[in-house]
Amino acid sequence: MELFEIIGKTKLNGEVYINGAKNAAVAIIPAAIATGGICKIENVPDIEDVENLKTAITKLGAVCERPDPHTLIIDSSKISSHIVDYNSVKKIRASYYMLGALLTRYKKAEVPLPGGCNFGERPIDQHIKGFEALGATVKIEHGMVKAYADNLRGASIYLDKVSVGSTINIMLAAVCAKGVTTIENAAKEPHIVDTANFLNMMGANIKGAGTEIIKILGVEKLHGCEYTIIPDQIEAGTYMIAAAVAGGDVTVQNIIPKHMDTLSIKLREMGGIVEEGDDFLRVISDGNLKNVEVKTMSYPGFPTDLQPQMTALMAASSGMGNITETVWENRFQYVTELKRLGCKITVDGRVARIEGGAKLTGAEVHATDLRAGASLIIAALACEGKTTIGNVRYINRGYEAIEEKLGALGADIKRVFIDDSDERYSEEMN
Ligand code: EPZ
Repeated sequence: MELFEIIGKTKLNGEVYINGAKNAAVAIIPAAIATGGICKIENVPDIEDVENLKTAITKLGAVCERPDPHTLIIDSSKISSHIVDYNSVKKIRASYYMLGALLTRYKKAEVPLPGGCNFGERPIDQHIKGFEALGATVKIEHGMVKAYADNLRGASIYLDKVSVGSTINIMLAAVCAKGVTTIENAAKEPHIVDTANFLNMMGANIKGAGTEIIKILGVEKLHGCEYTIIPDQIEAGTYMIAAAVAGGDVTVQNIIPKHMDTLSIKLREMGGIVEEGDDFLRVISDGNLKNVEVKTMSYPGFPTDLQPQMTALMAASSGMGNITETVWENRFQYVTELKRLGCKITVDGRVARIEGGAKLTGAEVHATDLRAGASLIIAALACEGKTTIGNVRYINRGYEAIEEKLGALGADIKRVFIDDSDERYSEEMN
């Protein structure tokens, strides 16, 4: 079992390089199996979600090579099955993208239902609505989503909910559907644009990704390509918030600053300095910012995936502030753990009221999901004394070498391996 031990109150200084975007990689890897060609994907983050997806497509028959930790070459020519087994995807929420990709490749797909995540239900009704509009019959039985189509044909689809997953999945299923597909009320996240760009490199004809209306003209077939994944907006934001909470002068390199606009604006409102370059942002903070109001929204709004980290920053800042979560119904579960560090937060439905200025002191805490884990790290940087974070496996899903990157900036953080039988860190708290 792994833990992080962090001793807070050190300033952060220097440069940190951001890896490729997790949420683009977990869409682009399944997209690669929509063709029988070879795809070379660069700037792939070296994280567990990628490793798990690689295993899942390998079990289907794909041949994956990783000539270096950030390059993945996928040869899907030998894929012989449209049925994804539960064991290979139970740890990956994004397994549902294999539905869209296999529908395009074989006009049939059977994929285990994604599990609910630790911050609530994860419905896929909009994905199914899209597949059905394209002509597929979709059934859910024995824990599997089963989709079959004689022919896929273009359709006009209006999403009742702005959803990243269904926007991408419908694009995946529609790329070779006959005629034109229109997705209205589409999500606009950077990883949607990245997945569309990847599919276009494979020969698809997708226009409008990044806007509310995406048009897909079905093509005969897709082919292999070479592609480089965009930088991770959420990883970048996590380091910007870390710099803000700890104080210091940190340059977050290899990013698309535009993707960070809402966070940069909030950090400036809080009294931090954020300077922008072509592919970097420099965050300067005295570690004593003042609180603001934050509301999560789909892109270009404030990202829900930075909400837990922002809550930790606000708990360590001064004054009252509120964070309203509008994307997920129940994404404040980690607050109980933040309170163990002394954070003063009251959750009322979708709003967390934060009373800044509390004295934060290190304690033993457990990550309840990926971004909750990042939030605990942020809070620990502001704590007096040692914080021990359990359930590090969640953090491994989405952050590459986080302890090395923070350590290089000056944080006192180490990854500790302990005996699985050590009851103090039992993982049953999830
Ligand atoms: C993606 O999840 C991300 N995951 C999540 O990041 C992120 O929090 C979320 O988008 C929102 O930005 C990946 O990209 C792998 P949605 P996704 O479909 O696609 C409702 C992280 O920490 N909804 O945009 O599953 C849903 O309940 C992860 O990196 C329906 O009602 O999210 C939610 O309230 C966690 N019906 C809202 O829409 C549907 O069919 C947005 O969900 C689909 C979604």
